[in-house]
Amino acid sequence: MIKARITGTGSYLPEKVLTNADLEKIVDTTDEWIRTRTGICERHVAAEGEVTSDLATQAARKAMQMAGVSAEEIDFIVVGTITGDFPWPATACLVQDKLGAKNAFAYDISAACSGFVYALDAATKQIESGAVKKALVIGAEIFSRIIDWEDRNTCVLFGDGAGAVVLEASGGESGIISTHLHSDGSFWELLYQPGFGACNPASEQGLKDKIPYIKMQGNEVFKVAVRSLSDVAFEALAANGLQAEDIDLFIPHQANRRILDATAKRIGFKDEQVYINVDRYANTSGATIPIALDEANRAGKIKPGDLLLFDAFGGGFTWGAVLLRW
Ligand code: ACO
Repeated sequence: MIKARITGTGSYLPEKVLTNADLEKIVDTTDEWIRTRTGICERHVAAEGEVTSDLATQAARKAMQMAGVSAEEIDFIVVGTITGDFPWPATACLVQDKLGAKNAFAYDISAACSGFVYALDAATKQIESGAVKKALVIGAEIFSRIIDWEDRNTCVLFGDGAGAVVLEASGGESGIISTHLHSDGSFWELLYQPGFGACNPASEQGLKDKIPYIKMQGNEVFKVAVRSLSDVAFEALAANGLQAEDIDLFIPHQANRRILDATAKRIGFKDEQVYINVDRYANTSGATIPIALDEANRAGKIKPGDLLLFDAFGGGFTWGAVLLRW
């Protein structure tokens, strides 16, 4: 059977760093509140003129360099993003153009913080079917552009960044073992961007009402996130006859340290099995897992044959897990 194997990883964080101390000057908050409630110390913010496809392209180039794959060899580009350059065309098409990947087809996936896991599932299935040989799977976000910088409930939580993997058809043992996706649209109003779209088309009043910015009921999101993240991790383990102790590295979506700790505890992971970098980047939505994977990979924390579990949750609600052998 053809397997989809990750042969290269890459990530890109914009240069500018915004610390909690910087945020203290913008909204009524404190470094102490942000650290204790979220575990976040700082986040990266895109420069003026820097757009999501720029971040995605930088991350993709690094992943392609590691894999030794040229732009012409890429058959498929999929970007998990909800903060693309435009409502349309797809950011994936803009990345295709910037890379010169003229033989690829490209589209975006809108699954909020689960975007990368959903995109990895789509690319895995394209490869397993034999339709695609080499794919670029990217998570890229510029949340700083859809945040209300006067809303302390949300502006402290997010950051900008991108991560990418090259996924290739392979015959060996390494590769994606299983993917598990879920969604429940009945929760849509707990976390969403009200405009501008068909429900709330562009208007001056909409701008005054801050329609283009994130709306979130944080404590409700928190409860469902922990339950869904742990349930889908159990589902992935059970589907493959595995226990928590069999996993070498658990890479959860990096939303909030308290969500990460509660989820890892519920599943039964020890601290050393869990990769955490939310302190430095905050929640980069669809980009958190590929950024964390690239960091862990480049730091030599992943060995051939290791079992990895990715676990994501986001607006929609959407959630999912991917189990793979490195
Ligand atoms: N600084 C200081 N005070 C604040 C801040 C801030 N930045 N933000 C909120 N507060 C205040 C609130 O106004 C409230 O004050 P009040 O009691 O006077 O009304 C108080 O802090 C407590 O607010 P709570 O909402 O109860 O705080 P909680 O402990 O739930 O923490 C948080 C809030 C961090 C948002 C938490 O609910 C959370 O992490 N939720 C998950 C949200 C999330 O991660 N969303 C990302 C997208 S989904 C995902 O990626 C999983």
